[in-house]
Amino acid sequence: KRSIQHDARELAKQPPVAFVFDIDGVLVHGPQPLDAAKRALAILDGANPLGTKIPYLLLTNGGGVGEEIRRKRLAKQLEYDLSPNQYIQSHTVLKSAVDKYADEHVLVLGGKFADCRYVAESYGFKNAYTTLDVHAWNPAVWPFHELSSMERESTKAVDFAQTPISAIFVFHDPRNWALDIQIVCDVIQGGGIIGRRPSNQDKQSQDAAEQKSVELVFCNPDLLWRSDFERPRIGQGAFREAFQAVFKALTGAEYPYTQYGKPTRATYKFAEQMLRDHLQELYGPVRELPQIYMVGDNPESDIAGANAAGWSSILVHTGVYDPRQGPPMHQPTQEVEDVEEAVRWAIEREM
Ligand code: G3P
Ligand code: MG
Repeated sequence: KRSIQHDARELAKQPPVAFVFDIDGVLVHGPQPLDAAKRALAILDGANPLGTKIPYLLLTNGGGVGEEIRRKRLAKQLEYDLSPNQYIQSHTVLKSAVDKYADEHVLVLGGKFADCRYVAESYGFKNAYTTLDVHAWNPAVWPFHELSSMERESTKAVDFAQTPISAIFVFHDPRNWALDIQIVCDVIQGGGIIGRRPSNQDKQSQDAAEQKSVELVFCNPDLLWRSDFERPRIGQGAFREAFQAVFKALTGAEYPYTQYGKPTRATYKFAEQMLRDHLQELYGPVRELPQIYMVGDNPESDIAGANAAGWSSILVHTGVYDPRQGPPMHQPTQEVEDVEEAVRWAIEREM
């Protein structure tokens, strides 16, 4: 693997441009890297009119495993090394939000088996539980599922009747929407205790006072995303819509929630700080940020977020957005076929 690790001696001068790449639909289609992605990274590795390496980050609404694991997997796919501060995924931003809940009991949704528990624990959550733990505690919580042996192996023994859940974090896309929607409804309606009767409507009653409201946090708002199927797939935003539709049918109203991930301001602010850290690592103290170009395939997340952050935005035709369906909902600085054309256009513009 060629290394794109910049040697500070080679790069005394910070270039006038930096890139932030979305991943799914821009650099890869599922397990397949796009050829244009490898050509784009070769340009950033020095084969460009600036005659120097050009810095970049990867910013994805994906996740479900630790940053290290996904970063190394991507480096192998793209055949370029990536340093830790070049990779941000949907739930990375939670590292800056963990204090409030570090010692509380939290429910972590999404990903395979207990992968997201391990990610939550690596961020500092000390009591992170999964919906498979809940099913192992009492299978009657959802009678239409039987834990596989691998699922059972991933569970922790917890008595949820004695374990008040303070917050629910949807880290990645849930694998069993029915099981997860049922349990999220149980936790919220039970004021944190699964199986406790919902407090009655008048908020004065004793049990209503006991029942704290549970915080609900989603890490990726994508209704659609592009994998290796020819049509976009529904994402975590679709799970949120499904949950809210069921909860509203049960209670008469949707449940309030916090949203992270592109296009939210918190995620772009977090990314801008990571870029500063990366530039500092390459060139020493950063006096001012270069012009940042976000290259994305989803107008609702990549382009909307970049525009709101004051970055330049380039929309590609290799992912969710299909130009045959009319103009994008969020106007990019430029629209191109693929990530290689995006990089060439932006460098030309900054020369
Ligand atoms: O689950 C990943 C998907 O929602 C989008 O990923 O890389 O296009 O932001 P990405
Ligand atoms: Mg994408």
